[in-house]
Amino acid sequence: MLNGKRILIGIGGGIAVYKVAELARMLSKAGADVHCVMTRSACEFVAPLTFEALTGNQVFTELFDLTSEREMGHIALARQADALIIAPATASLLARIAHGIADDLLTTIMQVCDKPVLLAPAMNTSMWESEATRRNMTTLKQRGMQTVGPAKGELACGEQGPGRLAEIHAIYSALLPLITAQKFHGQRWVINAGPTVESWDTVRILSNRASGKLGAMLADLAAIRGANVSFIAGPGTPGTHPLVKRLDVESAKDMLAVCEREAAGAEIFIGTAAVSDFRFADPHDGKLKRGNTSTMHIELAANPDIIAHVATMNARPGKVIAFAAESSNHLEHAKAKLLRKQVDAIVANDVSNMGSDSASGWWICCNEEQLMKTGTKLEFAEQVINHIMEMHT
Ligand SMILES: Cc1cc2nc3c(=O)[nH]c(=O)nc-3n(C[C@H](O)[C@H](O)[C@H](O)COP(=O)(O)O)c2cc1C
Repeated sequence: MLNGKRILIGIGGGIAVYKVAELARMLSKAGADVHCVMTRSACEFVAPLTFEALTGNQVFTELFDLTSEREMGHIALARQADALIIAPATASLLARIAHGIADDLLTTIMQVCDKPVLLAPAMNTSMWESEATRRNMTTLKQRGMQTVGPAKGELACGEQGPGRLAEIHAIYSALLPLITAQKFHGQRWVINAGPTVESWDTVRILSNRASGKLGAMLADLAAIRGANVSFIAGPGTPGTHPLVKRLDVESAKDMLAVCEREAAGAEIFIGTAAVSDFRFADPHDGKLKRGNTSTMHIELAANPDIIAHVATMNARPGKVIAFAAESSNHLEHAKAKLLRKQVDAIVANDVSNMGSDSASGWWICCNEEQLMKTGTKLEFAEQVINHIMEMHT
């Protein structure tokens, strides 16, 4: 998502500057063309050379610098960026930007900037909670600037409270929607993922090897593109983007109840969860004793078919997409499933994808199949999203 994007990081003079070096590196590694502007105070904490080495681009510090101004004027710096991150956004920077004071290179850039801005404030708790900073933040938000953090915790001054720079991952996550076309804005998407877990007794369970990775990536991609995503996650499913509404469940019955509630009237439902076909007919409280038997017969009861249920319920989502993990005759089985479950499309894939970091398969819609490119789960998830976009428009 960051490939080819030009990100300008405006670095203020706070103790957290050293963390921003990691952010610059992370963005560069993700394919962004990262440029940095440092205030004079920021240069007191970390030398510009650090950011130059990490990004491979010249770092700008001075407004009145003839060479910099000739090669890349302050107006161009603002205009050529796809988005700006101000980190750490010091109390002083927030005040100057809020009041239109353009007394150095960074604040002058902010005066001409018409691109999305992400503010990552970091300061002592008293500075953060001061009347002046609160008013400045209100002004900046009203102007459409986005914010991330500050986080709570121990501050460099030894005090506890809100004021820490948001985690680098959180800043990175918050940037993604700002540089991505909001194609799904206003849509409600519901995605389930991961395994389900059926309890036999207090300690023993029936489950499967699904990791929930692909479902989590689909949830992230949809949310970053503006969808309002409910993500119903079985145990062990990876973390999701902060914009995703995550609902953790255990058993198939729990998952059905939450899916039914969330999917009613949604635009899109994607069922990636590996739902246990059966549950224990007679689960026990406490731990069952092994006993002396050499064999044991356990009775299982069929679980509800969540996808088929969602696809046929009264307030059916606009489009229902199922996943079918098969070990043989993939297309034949998946096509039969598409008809039987009355879904709009099905992603047929091999059981070997389960738990792995790569994926391959077919997109089957209206009984026609398209081979999807083998790739990482993220690349595969992007292909699924593109197919859904084609089908839904
Ligand atoms: C050791 C030290 C740490 C500082 N840390 C912060 C900080 O985390 N946040 C903040 O808003 N100001 C902090 N300041 C104060 C700013 O450096 C000061 O307000 C400066 O004028 C900010 O300049 P700038 O906004 O142009 O970068 C710190 C100052 C010192 C001496």
